[in-house]
Amino acid sequence: MSRTVYVNGAYVPEEEAMVSVFDRGFLFADAIYEVTAVLDGKICEWDGHIARLQRSLGEIGMPMPMSSEELLEVHREIVKRNNMEEGAIYLQVTRGATDRDFVIPKDLPQTVVLFTQAKSLTGTKSGLRVISVPDIRWGRRDIKTVQLLAASMCKSEAKKQGKDDAWMIEDGFVTEGSSNNTYIVTEEGKIITRNLSNSILPGITRKSVLRIAEELDLEIEERPFTIAEAQKAVEAFMTAATSFVTPVIEIDGVKLGDGTPGPVSKRLCEVYIEESRKASC
Ligand code: PDD
Repeated sequence: MSRTVYVNGAYVPEEEAMVSVFDRGFLFADAIYEVTAVLDGKICEWDGHIARLQRSLGEIGMPMPMSSEELLEVHREIVKRNNMEEGAIYLQVTRGATDRDFVIPKDLPQTVVLFTQAKSLTGTKSGLRVISVPDIRWGRRDIKTVQLLAASMCKSEAKKQGKDDAWMIEDGFVTEGSSNNTYIVTEEGKIITRNLSNSILPGITRKSVLRIAEELDLEIEERPFTIAEAQKAVEAFMTAATSFVTPVIEIDGVKLGDGTPGPVSKRLCEVYIEESRKASC
């Protein structure tokens, strides 16, 4: 069945949706995106996603294409038109279309695209196997741009090796997963995750999960960690809007703990889903 997608003010069947070949999102990756989860047909973590969108756009000198209220309305409408109960909404805002030029143009009408991806987010997770790869992405990973080729290559390499995802390494330390933030849990029960900086995306799920961990009286340390340290951890997990809290059970062929999802990630996942259902809008 064809989805209804949103392109520049119109809701159209996906086959009819069109963006110019001169769009700077296509030619220069001059575009910002957000991916927002949907539970029970409602939008999760709206405040976080809209704030990060605004920040990312600002960092590359682009305005918001419409108000936050209008954007929320478009998110709700696309969920409704696609009868989606659970899954994700992809939003992309590009600088617009104009003749190809490296100089960033001013005041173009922006391109705004949204589409839905129905997907189960709340099913039981068996745990992922990850490999480590060099982080070859650009230096401003805190901005959510659509330059995802490096991340896509890393994840494909993991799949080629029969694994599930890749954790990227820079200067000996893990930055993040191909499209998620990463965590390890020490024998003493302490959660370690990389501190925020230009090196990683400030995950919306990360922020909520760290708050929940604090409320559960779990100790948290925000600092870089190595693969060797991760391989000694009793458990590990990753977070993203499209997978919530997902356990990691193997890193570069080394099993963590007993090789099954650990209690900390399981508990955080349960509470995160519970809270997201309540707070969705
Ligand atoms: N990616 N780090 C990277 C590099 C990401 O691409 C993502 C999310 C995250 C987690 O952020 P959040 O919790 O806000 O989803 C961290 C989205 C899901 C994607 O590209 O599909």
